[in-house]
Amino acid sequence: MGRGFVLPGLAPTGLAERTRFIDEEVARAIGGGIEQIVIVGAGYDGRALRFGGGPTRWIEVDVPSTQADKRRRLSTLGISSAGVTYAPVDLGRDDLDDVLDRAGHETSRPSLFICEGLLAYLPLEVNASLCETLCARAAPGTVLAVNAYVTPATGAGGRALRRVENGVLSLIGEARRTEFRPGDPEKLLVVTGWRVTRTTRSARGKLDQGAHLLMLAGEPVQA
Ligand SMILES: C[S@@+](CC[C@H](N)C(=O)[O-])C[C@H]1O[C@@H](n2cnc3c(N)ncnc32)[C@H](O)[C@@H]1O
Repeated sequence: MGRGFVLPGLAPTGLAERTRFIDEEVARAIGGGIEQIVIVGAGYDGRALRFGGGPTRWIEVDVPSTQADKRRRLSTLGISSAGVTYAPVDLGRDDLDDVLDRAGHETSRPSLFICEGLLAYLPLEVNASLCETLCARAAPGTVLAVNAYVTPATGAGGRALRRVENGVLSLIGEARRTEFRPGDPEKLLVVTGWRVTRTTRSARGKLDQGAHLLMLAGEPVQA
């Protein structure tokens, strides 16, 4: 699991809800016979290990340095990731379509695509291109599961909260590149060819100024 926005009592963590939502999508996909799961921005996600072992093919997409570090750590621990294909890519520069072709992703068969804890780290145009590329590769029965951190356009309190969050992110070497307002994540999916089918949001925090994690699942409109 990624670090997410963990500011106890201030901003919503939402990590439990986020993990539960994506886990449910994985369980639903495997139970429904989907045999290829692509985790974009997989980081140190352990689902291929937790849910693996069956006929499902797992493709993990992330920057080369993170993938190399993950593989080294798994190897040190003696953990096999034999069912996983690692597809190194910089989503801001490389051609994801090409990378997924080379990783053996099959466009004729349904997939579960997961983008968890990712969209905030990419510029909006890269998010749009990502969702469009995944939609173009989505056979009937495919599901896209994403989450986004949504902040309402609030007054001074909300702006102060975001300054604190951005400060914490920069301390750990990360930067938020897309800020989502209410309705934006749904719009991103709809304009890139997806129909939103399931949503859930994190519980309200005492001082979160209405900021929350939103989880969405969608199906391709064209398929
Ligand atoms: C907060 S982590 C989330 C990891 C995992 N999905 C989770 O929920 O635990 C964000 C991930 O996105 C990856 N990422 C960020 N920018 C990327 C890019 N331009 N191309 C590919 N991966 C990227 C990072 O390397 C990192 O692993």
